[in-house]
Amino acid sequence: MSVVRVVDPDVDGLRTAGALLRAGGLVAFPTETVYGLGAHALDPVAVARVFAAKGRPADNPLIVHLATAAELPQVAAEVTPLARALAATFWPGPLTLVLPAVPELPSVTTGGLSTVAVRVPDHPVATAVLAEAGVPVAAPSANRSGRPSPTSAAHVVADLGAAVDLVVDGGDTPLGIESTVVDARGSRPVVLREGSVTREDLGMVAEVDAHVAAHGAGPTASPGTRYRHYAPTCTVVLAAPGTAGAHAARLHEDGMRVGLVATEVAPDGVVGIARFHDAVDLARRLYATLRDAEDAGVAVLVVEAVPEQGVGRAVMDRLRRAADGA
Ligand code: TXA
Ligand code: MG
Repeated sequence: MSVVRVVDPDVDGLRTAGALLRAGGLVAFPTETVYGLGAHALDPVAVARVFAAKGRPADNPLIVHLATAAELPQVAAEVTPLARALAATFWPGPLTLVLPAVPELPSVTTGGLSTVAVRVPDHPVATAVLAEAGVPVAAPSANRSGRPSPTSAAHVVADLGAAVDLVVDGGDTPLGIESTVVDARGSRPVVLREGSVTREDLGMVAEVDAHVAAHGAGPTASPGTRYRHYAPTCTVVLAAPGTAGAHAARLHEDGMRVGLVATEVAPDGVVGIARFHDAVDLARRLYATLRDAEDAGVAVLVVEAVPEQGVGRAVMDRLRRAADGA
């Protein structure tokens, strides 16, 4: 049985990661949001291996990662004034811009679309890996398709094992929720996927086009939002603030093994999976929490809802899809 190589982000580890990426290998590395599974974005064979390793549908395109914004013309055929303004404000950072793609980008990377999704991550290990690679790196979240996104190297190893050539271990990722995907081809940002850059943040640069919801089924919606992201082995139930503990206790009394993720302490008999203070804290720990609930063998996981503002919108988006698979 082959075993995946996990390395520290030291000089040797980073050099190996860069060389592997240039040569068509698969390298998982941390970003400020979640771990990415990287491959040379211009190498169709390498990118095809990413889809195979994840079990990802071929029509769900990948985000291309760059070390610096100066490399944007390598993948985007046109950089709109809106994209320029958003990049100047939020890069490096958890904002992905959808722009017209250059023809050199293989269609396997773009899922056959004429656009490319691109971002400059804000994590020292990601930046170093990308700089060592010296090429644009396509990197979806480094989970098996249908699993929670990985926020630690251990999650990557658990999901992908030897399908990855190298995992660079940079510890837990600081934000925990994926980047915000924005169509930046027009004059207003259209949010295709809610994420770590909030609508409020975007609004400081340009008025957000409110007409297209993140879940919009139209052709502009982010293809990945059509798929159920997470098929939990437990049922996820959302409860209004102040009601989660009592709700969990009732289910426990009905004879179920129940887990709780809430701002309050778990009542007797209920498995306390995680206690959080606010939406930012829950965002950071959400995916690990879902994995922990599965490991704890709970049948039902009661999660306290957070207000739909700021990053709370992205958290509730992920939770709703975990809860009902919409
Ligand atoms: O934070 C993140 O974005 C992480 C880290 C690793 O950077 N990456 C990530 O990638 O979440 P992934 O593949 O799990 O999600 C990419 C999302 C999907 O919903 C995909 O459909 C969408 O971006 N996307 C990619 N290319 C697109 C395009 N050309 N137009 C619209 N949506 C696109
Ligand atoms: Mg993903």
